[in-house]
Amino acid sequence: MRVLVIGTGGREHALALALARDPEVTELHAAPGNPGLADVATLHDVDPGDPAGVAALATRLGVDLVVVGAEAPLVAGVADAVVGAGIACFGPSRAAARLEGSKAFSKEVMAAAGVPTARSWVCTTPTEVAEALAAAGSPYVVKDDALAAGKGVVVTTDRDEALAHAAACGRVVVEEFLDGPEVSLFAVCDGTTAYPLQPAQDFKRIFDGGRGPNTGGMGSYSPLPWAPPDLAATVMATVVQPTLDEMARRGAHFRGCLYVGLALTDDGPRVIEFNVRFGDPDVQPVLALLDSPLGELLLAAAEGRLGDVPPPTFRAGAAVTVVLASAGYPESSSKGDVITGVTEAGARDGVDVVHAGTALVEDRLVTAGGRVLAVRAVGADVADARSRAYAAADLVSFPGLQRRSDIAAEPLGVVEGASVLTPHHPSSGDL
Ligand code: AMP
Ligand code: GLY
Repeated sequence: MRVLVIGTGGREHALALALARDPEVTELHAAPGNPGLADVATLHDVDPGDPAGVAALATRLGVDLVVVGAEAPLVAGVADAVVGAGIACFGPSRAAARLEGSKAFSKEVMAAAGVPTARSWVCTTPTEVAEALAAAGSPYVVKDDALAAGKGVVVTTDRDEALAHAAACGRVVVEEFLDGPEVSLFAVCDGTTAYPLQPAQDFKRIFDGGRGPNTGGMGSYSPLPWAPPDLAATVMATVVQPTLDEMARRGAHFRGCLYVGLALTDDGPRVIEFNVRFGDPDVQPVLALLDSPLGELLLAAAEGRLGDVPPPTFRAGAAVTVVLASAGYPESSSKGDVITGVTEAGARDGVDVVHAGTALVEDRLVTAGGRVLAVRAVGADVADARSRAYAAADLVSFPGLQRRSDIAAEPLGVVEGASVLTPHHPSSGDL
């Protein structure tokens, strides 16, 4: 099987590493890729947001499967173009990608499908926002309706900040605050049926203890020893299957990864958000533990025949990922800082280094984005994987390096940042 992975980040590198372990995957390509991806795949130049360009590349390479990493290309219609060229694509059509592309649309689908989620109000005027904030109560949750790379959401006890964010966004969704630890569940979907991957948790805020602004994610681990053992089954029955049925009813069959972001509240799991691709870095530990072949799974999903392959299986033990971010992240990022120690870190037992915002300049590895690298380790349990990940991460350095020191630390499963809702300033920094 020949596979082309579209994207540049840690998610795409982690996917490629897992695909490379599948004996059926005989050729692996990535576009545009990054220096980490270059070690496992042949890189090609393409604009991931250009549907015709991606389809032409896939046709020229003669691949059997295209795996689209990020949401923006999917919302732009890359999967439609690839499928239109007669090639299987893992990633939803433009119509189905609206589940992430519009918060208002995803809330509407959840309501129609009876999916448990926060009460919400779609608002376009300051008066509507003020009324919705009064109805929802504090802490206030205000979400930009449009794609905002995980940065369009403000959670705050400060009403003025909530109003200001709404005014800056235009159309927003105001939501009831969901109180409970957050979980990421990834469902591999073929349009009508789905298999869950093992649940994971990521750490969204930049600073230890869940303080500071939201980021794309500063670390993650899997499995979740504290979560109910039937969590995945419950979410498949109450969230994923009803959503697939509702999307099919609308003629927008969902093929790809449905990323269910959940809060485990006292009343049970509630959906915080849907995304239409794997989460990064949340999926990194999950893929490190995947035992069954990834290529076969994604191809079966893309071809609408998931039932032909067995459900994914995971090895025992745990995996932890620690993100190393550049100076200024998440407000900005620093480029061109020389990175050392990556080879040494990756040589440690059970460890690999996942590239996100890196570049090669004159044969030297340098920073090229907000989240630069992720150090990922597997171990006997979460504590063991965590100590391996941090020991390896200690070997990597670059000027201005930022990382959290409490990724996957005890106590696990607590509510991140709930008691420290610091003012959040929306930013235009990279992922
Ligand atoms: P989203 O982009 O919807 O994932 O939101 C980003 C982050 O904001 C989530 O990971 C949560 O930490 C927080 N958040 C979003 N919606 C809610 C909610 N209704 N209640 C509590 N926290 C929320
Ligand atoms: N880690 C959060 C995301 O991928 O959206």
